[in-house]
Amino acid sequence: MDELNAHQRWSDLALAIVAAQEAYYGQDAPTLSDAEYDSMMRELMTLEDTYPELRTPDSPTQHVGRPSERTDFAPVTHLERLLSLDNVFSAEELRAWMQRTQRLLDRQPKWLCELKIDGLAVDLVYRDGRLVSAATRGDGRVGEDITGNVLTIGDIPARLRGTDVPPLVEVRGEVFFPVAAFEQLNAELVAAGKAPFANPRNAAAGSLRQKDPRVTAARPLSMLVHGLGAYEGFQLENQSEAYELLRGWGLPTSTHYQVVRGQQEVDEYVRWVGEHRHDPVIEHELDGVVVKVDALADHALLGDTSRAPKWAIAYKFPPEEVNTKLLDIQVGVGRTGRITPFGVMAPVRVAGSTVERATLHNGFEVKRKGVLIGDTVVLRKAGDVIPEIVGPVVALRDGTQREFVMPTHCPSCGAELRPEKEDDKDIRCPNAQHCPAQLRERVFALASRSALDIEALGLEAAIALSDPDADRPTDTQEPRQVSVLSSEASLFNLTVADLAGVKVWRRGALEPYFFTKGTANKPSVPKETTLQLFRELEAARTRPLWRVLVALSIRHVGPTAARSLADAFGSIDAIRAADAAQLASVDGVGQVIADAVQEWFSVDWHQQTIAAWAAAGVRMADEAKPEGVPVLAGLTIVVTGTLNGFSRDAAKEAIISRGGKAASSVSAKTSYVVVGDNPGSKADDAARLGVTILNEEQFVALLETGPVEQAP
Ligand code: IVH
Repeated sequence: MDELNAHQRWSDLALAIVAAQEAYYGQDAPTLSDAEYDSMMRELMTLEDTYPELRTPDSPTQHVGRPSERTDFAPVTHLERLLSLDNVFSAEELRAWMQRTQRLLDRQPKWLCELKIDGLAVDLVYRDGRLVSAATRGDGRVGEDITGNVLTIGDIPARLRGTDVPPLVEVRGEVFFPVAAFEQLNAELVAAGKAPFANPRNAAAGSLRQKDPRVTAARPLSMLVHGLGAYEGFQLENQSEAYELLRGWGLPTSTHYQVVRGQQEVDEYVRWVGEHRHDPVIEHELDGVVVKVDALADHALLGDTSRAPKWAIAYKFPPEEVNTKLLDIQVGVGRTGRITPFGVMAPVRVAGSTVERATLHNGFEVKRKGVLIGDTVVLRKAGDVIPEIVGPVVALRDGTQREFVMPTHCPSCGAELRPEKEDDKDIRCPNAQHCPAQLRERVFALASRSALDIEALGLEAAIALSDPDADRPTDTQEPRQVSVLSSEASLFNLTVADLAGVKVWRRGALEPYFFTKGTANKPSVPKETTLQLFRELEAARTRPLWRVLVALSIRHVGPTAARSLADAFGSIDAIRAADAAQLASVDGVGQVIADAVQEWFSVDWHQQTIAAWAAAGVRMADEAKPEGVPVLAGLTIVVTGTLNGFSRDAAKEAIISRGGKAASSVSAKTSYVVVGDNPGSKADDAARLGVTILNEEQFVALLETGPVEQAP
């Protein structure tokens, strides 16, 4: 970039950052995601490294938080400046920072590792043990007086306790809205016709900056202290020691910090937090880890920059919240006819994957979230959790946004949609048997790994067979098709000839492909995947009963309930003949499932499906099992990582069929943890809890003989 462009870019960025700061700190309504903000700030810093003349005193890089300006609250000058933190975004950058710090100190310090609490910074001053002032951070020198509001926070003592209370102590910490209480607050706000908060941090900020302390008092805010400002009358060597002292005086300090030595231990801490950040033991949201030099004498040695101390760094985790454009809201038809609106978004990366669709559950939920088509929305994906549209960024609306209207008729078959029961939030397509979309979803589901396991019958093939025009491009010249399957009943009667000429549309592709290739005199030679389909259909005829039950799409009957039913009754006929009480008394079944099973069998075309499958050779009963020796009775076994001789399901099956319990998380009650290749944190958990670890070979031996007493 040449100098002129660099200057232009700098001023664009600086303006955008200042505007974002005003929205974030001034309105408690951010317009940028943290990730966007961080990345703009980084770009600004890089520009200033290259062109130092840009680093003027009023650059956003030289300030903490928000530029001071008019507010509704009285100004308070902090006794000591309340700084921000510099950020790093990768393990390598963290390592480089630690090495630099070590070089500056000329030795290896002890590191204090903490959680980076996603809340809002507050400065408290206690004189002779009494809280005399509480203020927001403001620009780091002058904040806003929120003493009245802070006094309503249960965690924050109005008076320090103990006999050694000092004449002066200024502490800093983070006020946050506990995650568990956040959902409820939003539900209450919406019920009262008010706008919900975008996230717990905004809820904390909005609750704290209230003119009326009674509103603050009604919100379950908490605080954790993470630093000291000015103090008199006591001496300290380490920051960790300060936490002990402050806790003794009744101030809230985190229990999740750790003093460690060396790179490896810091990495370990970061990894642990990354894996446990959503555990309920951590009450607040966190967006990273803060690594500090523990010794206070070293703080003085290292000093500060204009906005951050040099003795601390924030290691930020990849963002779980990003902003993106909501391009459209469309509806899907599920396997049970439920109509689900979902957002179609400009693709964005969040928490390690690219997201472009997110469910909006039902029409009420779209209203509750208040999103319009065309909005910039906050998209959240917390760890492994399914991506969620949190809400709109209202400040960025420009009048082109429009409201979504729930359809009244099924987009697939045209049937009139209605709720099943009067107060249901979901609406459904009642045309269960013939609606192509419902059929397609049932066919796809029956082929899944936890049902009949027909790999060649994926979503594309299911669409081609039962709902052939679902993904047909709108602008194609290709004619519409009739579906080969008009119901799942005829699935096992398919022939190669049926598939000749059937087009399979790949999502987004302009050209279809075919199940068969052909020449003029031999028009339908099956392709390899088509042969595989027929082989797998053949194999599916002799699957265990529980898999057939799952394949029938009986509401609430997943693999677990299906196994229980199959074990208890042994055949479809016996299940059909059982009354509700008999069904409900089966371990793992219960009333809801029993009712759903009975209701399912009461529908004619369901019975026809069973009859047609049976006639096509699908086994509808389990063979009487030779009484297997339950060598694993009473044992709980967890498998982690990849095994060579077993898929996940097969390993589970092997454990269950021998009377053992296959669990997914390790606890002190776990009997064995089987560790394959690339194991996750479960292997560490096992080591920590002292649970016996087995390799694959030892697992195979265990399956054969059960546990063998070890010679001492
Ligand atoms: S120490 C003098 N420790 O993050 C530096 N800050 O993005 C004081 N924060 O301004 C910061 N958790 O408001 C520290 N464990 C923690 C923190 C933490 C959250 C906040 C704090 C800081 C901001 C920087």
